[in-house]
Amino acid sequence: MRQHVNPLSKYFDQIERIPSLNEMFDNSKLNLHIDIGCASGEFLFDLALDNTNWNYIGIEIRERLIKTAKSKLREKEIKNLYFVFGNAHNILNDNHSKFIIKNLKSISFNFPDPWFKKRHYKRRVIQPEFINILSNLMKEGSLVYIKTDVKNLFEYMDCTISSDCNFKKIDKKYFNDSASFNPNKVQTNREKYALANELKIFENIYVKT
Ligand SMILES: C[S@@+](CC[C@H](N)C(=O)[O-])C[C@H]1O[C@@H](n2cnc3c(N)ncnc32)[C@H](O)[C@@H]1O
Repeated sequence: MRQHVNPLSKYFDQIERIPSLNEMFDNSKLNLHIDIGCASGEFLFDLALDNTNWNYIGIEIRERLIKTAKSKLREKEIKNLYFVFGNAHNILNDNHSKFIIKNLKSISFNFPDPWFKKRHYKRRVIQPEFINILSNLMKEGSLVYIKTDVKNLFEYMDCTISSDCNFKKIDKKYFNDSASFNPNKVQTNREKYALANELKIFENIYVKT
């Protein structure tokens, strides 16, 4: 059963600050990827071990999940992975986080919570204001990945991102996978579930122009 939290709750106004790249990673010069809504981070552990030439940050709003991820990270001593607790929108909207967005090579929204009722759309993680922050700060050529098995959510996310004139959809035919944060196509937990249950998966990649 899903245990949603309301991201608009005042509880998330207080944010965990993201430390400097040097404090988070062994090699701060590597390509940087952020995964939004990383749950307990299994996907990012797999990625970080598989692609040691990338740095990864996971942001997750459910405290219990991020605690699990952080304690596993301490045990494993992986030096190209970092986890942050809170509402991704509030964290990345903080002035202090600008340096992170400017340093991003890519950001992923994998199977975000759908919030099916129209009156709850405002709780969806992708919001025009959030995309505007990314659009203003991400460097040219950096990428936004979206993936979901909910058609209505996919259309909403696509419409929100495509409405920003700085983001252009990439035709996947011409996309060079070796430049991706996930060249070996590691799957998230929800993706494994969707594939096992033969659910259709919708995905897009956008480039900042
Ligand atoms: C459906 S789960 C998908 C988890 C994982 N990405 C996957 O594909 O298996 C969505 C996750 O996003 C988290 N989430 C929802 N809103 C968020 C927000 N505003 N900031 C950070 N995480 C959020 C949820 O707590 C949940 O863990």
